[in-house]
Amino acid sequence: PKLTVVTRTGDEIEIEQTRPGASVMELMRDHDVPDLLALCGGSRSCATCHVWVDTAFLSKLPEAVEEESELLDSSMHRQPNSRLSCQIKWKDELDGLRVTLAPED
Ligand code: FES
Repeated sequence: PKLTVVTRTGDEIEIEQTRPGASVMELMRDHDVPDLLALCGGSRSCATCHVWVDTAFLSKLPEAVEEESELLDSSMHRQPNSRLSCQIKWKDELDGLRVTLAPED
C-alpha cells in the first residue's frame, strides 16, 4: 500500500489512492479512518490529526513550522516522530508511509 494507517484499536488501514498535494489527513478522511477528528479541517489549529510517523520517513518531511511544533507540544502524547497529519503533503517519495494515530489527549 502507498499509505498504511494504524488506528487507535491497532487495526491497519491500507490506502492505495493518494493524490500529490493532498494532506495525509485528507487522505485518511477520504478513507473514513476511525477516530480521526481533524476538527479544524486542516488549518493547523486543533492537533486532533496528530500522528506518529514511521521514523524511516521523517527525513523526507519538511521540518515542522513553529505553529505545528507548539500545537504538538500541547499533546501529552508527543514523541520525536509526532506530526500533524494535515501538514504532511503527499508526494511520491512518501510511497510506503506508515502512520499511527496518536491517542486522544
Ligand atoms: Fe486541525 Fe490538523 S486538522 S491541526
